[in-house]
Amino acid sequence: MQNKMSGSLNHAMIDGPAGRAAQEYANQFGQPGFQDITRAYIDQNYAGYTEENQETWRTLYDRQMEYLADHASNVYLSGARNIKLVRDHIPYLSGPKSVNTFLMPLTGWQSKAVPGYLPAKAFFACLARREFPTTIVIRPKESIDYLPEPDIFHDIFGHVPLHADPTFADFLQTYGKAALTTDDPHHTERLSRLFWFTVEFGLIREGGRNRLYGSGLISSPGESKHALTSKEVDRRPFDLEAVCNTSFEIDHFQPILYVLDSFEQLRDAMDTYAKRLLDAARDNAAV
Ligand SMILES: [Fe+2]
Repeated sequence: MQNKMSGSLNHAMIDGPAGRAAQEYANQFGQPGFQDITRAYIDQNYAGYTEENQETWRTLYDRQMEYLADHASNVYLSGARNIKLVRDHIPYLSGPKSVNTFLMPLTGWQSKAVPGYLPAKAFFACLARREFPTTIVIRPKESIDYLPEPDIFHDIFGHVPLHADPTFADFLQTYGKAALTTDDPHHTERLSRLFWFTVEFGLIREGGRNRLYGSGLISSPGESKHALTSKEVDRRPFDLEAVCNTSFEIDHFQPILYVLDSFEQLRDAMDTYAKRLLDAARDNAAV
């Protein structure tokens, strides 16, 4: 998959020797001699952000947070407050005012800067360690409304507030461990669907209303409203088997969404599925 974005993206932030070495390591992760996922991490290189980059963050934050205040899950909103997500500047990943400083005592999760797309096993290895591989670049100003690839607005604004919730935090780590365990393409596909319909595009029922929590919805002004209001969307109650059997398409607004009753429901369903996969892996190893 292509990992570079077009437009006036500040490639200098990720294209240096350290970025290239980290990406090469990630691409080979899992092969003999490539078992240390921390070597896929890089520094955020915060000084590399331009004033235009900072303006893009503020514009995106303002545009989306006002809508989310009344339409996002309370778990997302309190997470955003707890990690001190602010409009004034692109989040810091290290230092006393960083999201990681506030996250650590809450759940132990951390966001780790990566140079680009991580292959599946490398991505799962990060999650299994309670580490979230985070794109550090931000979308070009001319692509402010839509970008197919993740950027720091999607990865931090969209994903990280939920990592402050202990139940979601446990779910995501269990997901990573389970996904790391299996090499069965059947289960790999089911797990990618589970990720898609929950972490990326999930809805949750709170106070008698559907609310947003999936990062793809949270970070998208257009799709967040569509997900909650369009008659074209089939909103189904969450059921792990049903989710794992539902295929998805990536290039348009989602026609099917799944609605959780609670994050405990998601965590418990994942625990059950993970146990199945871990037992199967143990049985295979014993044969
Ligand atoms: Fe995402």
